[in-house]
Amino acid sequence: MTDFRNKVVYQIYPKSFKDSDGDGVGDLRGIIEKLDYLAELGVDYLWITPFFLSPQKDNGYDVADYTAIDPRFGSMEDFEELVSAAGKRGLKIMLDMVLCHTSDQHLWFQKALEGDETYRRYYILRDGRNKKDPEDPGEPPTNWQCAFGGSAWQWEPRQGKWYLHLHDVSQPDLDWTNPRVREELAGVVRFWKERGVAGFRFDVINLISKPERFEDDTEGLGRRLFADGPHVHEYLRELVASAGLEGMVTVGEMASTDLENCLLYTRPEAHELSMVFNFHHLKVDYRDGDKWALMEPDIMELKRLFAAWQTGMAEGGGWNALFWCNHDQPRIVSRFGDEKTYRKESAKMLAACIHLMRGTPYIYQGEEIGMTNPGYTSIDQYRDVESLNHYQILLDKGKTEGEALEILSVRSRDNGRTPMQWSEEPHGGFSEAEPWIPVAANFAEVNVASDMREKDSIFSFYRELIRIRKEMPIVAEGGIRFLEEENPDVLAYERRWNNESLIVLCNFRRQYARLIKGCVSDYEKDGYRKRIGNYQGTGAGLRPYEVIVYHKVG
Ligand code: GLC
Repeated sequence: MTDFRNKVVYQIYPKSFKDSDGDGVGDLRGIIEKLDYLAELGVDYLWITPFFLSPQKDNGYDVADYTAIDPRFGSMEDFEELVSAAGKRGLKIMLDMVLCHTSDQHLWFQKALEGDETYRRYYILRDGRNKKDPEDPGEPPTNWQCAFGGSAWQWEPRQGKWYLHLHDVSQPDLDWTNPRVREELAGVVRFWKERGVAGFRFDVINLISKPERFEDDTEGLGRRLFADGPHVHEYLRELVASAGLEGMVTVGEMASTDLENCLLYTRPEAHELSMVFNFHHLKVDYRDGDKWALMEPDIMELKRLFAAWQTGMAEGGGWNALFWCNHDQPRIVSRFGDEKTYRKESAKMLAACIHLMRGTPYIYQGEEIGMTNPGYTSIDQYRDVESLNHYQILLDKGKTEGEALEILSVRSRDNGRTPMQWSEEPHGGFSEAEPWIPVAANFAEVNVASDMREKDSIFSFYRELIRIRKEMPIVAEGGIRFLEEENPDVLAYERRWNNESLIVLCNFRRQYARLIKGCVSDYEKDGYRKRIGNYQGTGAGLRPYEVIVYHKVG
């Protein structure tokens, strides 16, 4: 069994990582150019988001051919070179498998639309409701909504049926009840495994098993009916067995999931996945659960969620993926930190806060230098289908353009998709050409070169956190207990392993914060030594966004 507990994963969004051929779009050779940088950071795995053939309606999460590389990203030779060059530096490759849906350009869907019965059975086609005659579409089969706004059903006149798409209309859902579909998908995973891939991330994998009966959701938009569906665990075990995933590092993206299911997904005896992403902690700034309604983050709720998931997963023997950022999330310093006055301090505090919890940490490109949201001010700067759809939905609901743009500038997925800022050169050193999406205006100050020139760089702080995980087994192996639970400003926890203790104190506020327990420096009187922090020395309380990590043996 590969040990994934002391490993760190780095996520690469290839489109925005490094452009090697001057077309404004990042590519596989761009990743090869930066392998030394990634090796220096000290990560173990590189999770690369989809670069398969795709019309790019959802930036590659709409796959038209699972075993072909989109020429805009490179060729199979480039990929093989990437695997081997990464391997020479001790870096392993993890690929992103989008097995819940395909693109509507996939040959399977094209054949289904032509009426080929075998392929019609690959997708979820249903009759409309309240049809007046055979030609009449009627109404969508259920009231379910897709993730990007609007109905999850699309009328297909050639087949006289509605097809289900839980994401964009160009992403028809596959029918996992069909054993042939499951076999095909296992074959896709095997194909990449045979090309030297060491791990996999499975996209929205808890949405693969739809409910037995398709009926309206009387309490919501449908999600609770199709998340963690009736056969999901069985399908995952089958995939692991038939694609030969046992012993590989796997992570599932779990939409709207719960602790009970995440234990079932990740307990080693379940033979399903190594670990899971859940998103509850990234909704604490959604007003009434609505992503498009702004609110200051509720730090007490964040603390409560971390405590519940961390201790619940530990008690039940499950394993978490630890993360703040990915290609679907705004930048964390702009969100739970302070991107202006305390950018460096808050970036480091947020990093230590999750890297020292129980689980496997993920770093999303640019997080290690404290990249921020770009602060776009015009709709022309956005590319993401979800953002463009919701801009229109917000206007339809009566928001002004200014209000809708303000919401997008905080919530859009494009906030995390801007080009990696490598240097102060034009386009942040990402490309010689105009990038496919505008670079953040602060690239001249916030970039890899300038961060690495500083002695106390954010990059070196991340490197140190990774080193601590490798050197101190308590981080990978220890138990966890939350402290200061009533403290509105400070998130704190203790890790314990054998006779060792590690205390992590994080101030989530722009102001000085105190501990309920007493003085911070009291830990020193108890024999604790500071292991890492983002300020010099220690005081009675915690300075703005301060993090202190104490260690004691015995
Ligand atoms: C996942 C991906 C996201 C994509 C969606 C549909 O949530 O992370 O980028 O849009 O699945 O595939």
